Amino acid sequence: MELIEAIKGRRSIRAFRADPIPREVIANLLEIARWAPSGANSQPWRVTIVQGARLEAWRQALLARLAENPWDEARRRAYEVRVRTGSLAELVGLAGRSAYETLVEGSNRFYGAPVAVVLSFRGQEGARVPEAIPAFVTTLMLAAYEMGLGTCWLGFVMGQGDLLREYAQIPVDEQPAAVIALGYPDPAAPINRFRSPREPVEAFTRWVE
Ligand SMILES: Cc1cc2nc3c(=O)[nH]c(=O)nc-3n(C[C@H](O)[C@H](O)[C@H](O)COP(=O)(O)O)c2cc1C
Repeated sequence: MELIEAIKGRRSIRAFRADPIPREVIANLLEIARWAPSGANSQPWRVTIVQGARLEAWRQALLARLAENPWDEARRRAYEVRVRTGSLAELVGLAGRSAYETLVEGSNRFYGAPVAVVLSFRGQEGARVPEAIPAFVTTLMLAAYEMGLGTCWLGFVMGQGDLLREYAQIPVDEQPAAVIALGYPDPAAPINRFRSPREPVEAFTRWVE
């Protein structure tokens, strides 16, 4: 696969098959992602692969917390409007459910993925996330795509930092930085057909000389 084709073809996957991913496939994916650039080649990323019973327990804990503390009506309504009028409107339409159920509840279920990839780095609480971490994540997502795997970056899961720390067993001297759902895409799920739009280059570029 051509690199540019992969960059343009990758999309967030929000419905996964339950099939586990062989360990050597995940190891190969990390072998590729480690070639991402980093400041002074510091390679600050630490990776935790969470799967099996531990991922299931994490998922249940997230869903239980969401059930205990559902968004209040005003916040939920504002979110529905934001998504309905934004670039994810079609996605929610394809899912046939509300934006809250599709994106908030879906993210907290890891969209049914069999694996969560957790990125962390050595540092104190509140430390700035090294810029290299998103570089690693992007490299990993593109490599996964070429390998027939799907990914979805899960900011919502990051929001429950205590559960992340507990279930992914992040050491106290590390800070979590990203959570990625990883698995084989469910080809039958309409939501996976969604292609998010992009602004044209002129909308975000200034040329100065
Ligand atoms: C930092 C970050 C956090 C994200 N968090 C979520 C999330 O919690 N749930 C979700 O469904 N998608 C999440 N996404 C995916 C974005 O919605 C998606 O990348 C964007 O809509 C563009 O679509 P594409 O990835 O299909 O090209 C996140 C993406 C990034 C970069």
